[in-house]
Amino acid sequence: MALMSLRGFTQTSRWLRFSSVPAFKFHQTSMMGATVEQFEEAKNKLSTLKKDPGNEVKLKIYALFKQATHGPCDTPKPGMLDFVNKAKWDSWKSLGAISQDEARQQYCNLIGSLVAAEGGSSAQEVSAQPAASDHVYKTLLVSTQDDITTIKLNRPAKKNAITTEMYEEIIDALQQAAKDTCVLTVFTGAGDFYCSGNDLSNFTKIPEGGVEQMAKAGGELLRRYVKAYIDFPKPLVAVVNGPAVGISVTVLGMFDLVYATDSATFHTPFSQLGQSPEGCSSYTYPRLMGSSKASEMLLFNKKLTAVQACQLGLVTEVFPDSSFQSEVWSRLRSYAKLPPNSLALSKQLMRSVEKDQLHAVNDAEVERLIERWTSDECFNAVMSFFQAKAKL
Ligand code: COA
Repeated sequence: MALMSLRGFTQTSRWLRFSSVPAFKFHQTSMMGATVEQFEEAKNKLSTLKKDPGNEVKLKIYALFKQATHGPCDTPKPGMLDFVNKAKWDSWKSLGAISQDEARQQYCNLIGSLVAAEGGSSAQEVSAQPAASDHVYKTLLVSTQDDITTIKLNRPAKKNAITTEMYEEIIDALQQAAKDTCVLTVFTGAGDFYCSGNDLSNFTKIPEGGVEQMAKAGGELLRRYVKAYIDFPKPLVAVVNGPAVGISVTVLGMFDLVYATDSATFHTPFSQLGQSPEGCSSYTYPRLMGSSKASEMLLFNKKLTAVQACQLGLVTEVFPDSSFQSEVWSRLRSYAKLPPNSLALSKQLMRSVEKDQLHAVNDAEVERLIERWTSDECFNAVMSFFQAKAKL
């Protein structure tokens, strides 16, 4: 879309008819994360963009704007043939129940990253939590503030299940964060879930080469994904804001700190899905918690509460849900004031002893999974998941 139509989209509302957004007033108080002024400024900055960010990003902007100013989507679904309004409605609906505060913050982050990507005034001028790099992600919100890079999984309507595209974006975000000047890198999720693990629909997109080709490509992606954690050179912190499943749990053994809300749970239902462990958990879990507790999780699908996961050493500390965000972020802001080189070099010393081992474990886990993904056990389990959904 050309510049004119982008302006139309932001100002005269031709593309997504922003004029249909009802007039609103904010309280003139500061919001959690982004202030009223920052939100207004982000809106103004949107109209200065020179490049068209693409329909998907524009739909996201629309959805965040609606969520921020109106709240969760509560309007009737447009008819199948009303393509534009249906796309807008789907995008808004996909934000689920995220709060207006969070939507305002995400809106500022997104506009900030678009402005920064064009090399205009820095994202810092737009957003309370500006983008860490000039990368714009479709499935993540990446921001920096107070020397902390935050990578937030951003598919709340799908409980932050990780699609193929999202794996690629996380790898890229980790590589960018490894190079930036921030002291800490934080991983967290948007909405009520931390992450529901691998998006099971990844298994339903069978390429022409068949299931074997899908499994091989998936294996290579998984190998690179886990490698990005093994090689990550700076302190990596998980802020587990809700339930965590599958690969989002297994990689935790490679994080330097794991802070969890007391409402979080930790579940690795691999055998239930006809699969096998990844994220180096077949090595890190027995080391962290002993082999019988690791077996309960990795073989027998035992779901742990946050407190249980803390007792087993997978989680560093558990916080009450009501004060989770404020307590954790104030702790992290103080940690981020420590000398960055000392922190990074100390982490590297602690991890270097087992780095080769982790790469070998990653390779072995990937090989096993490539075989599992082509098995009847896995096929039947994934089909059952989607059939159960279809019956609801
Ligand atoms: N893959 C694909 N879609 C997923 C998903 C996943 N891992 N996790 C959640 N979703 C989707 C659901 O299908 C649903 O989509 P819909 O709104 O189009 O129906 C949406 O996200 C919301 O999930 P829902 O199941 O309605 O929420 P819930 O609170 O009842 O349950 C989970 C959440 C995560 C417990 C449940 O979705 C689940 O068990 N997901 C599978 C987790 C899994 O096995 N991960 C792989 C581990 S290896």
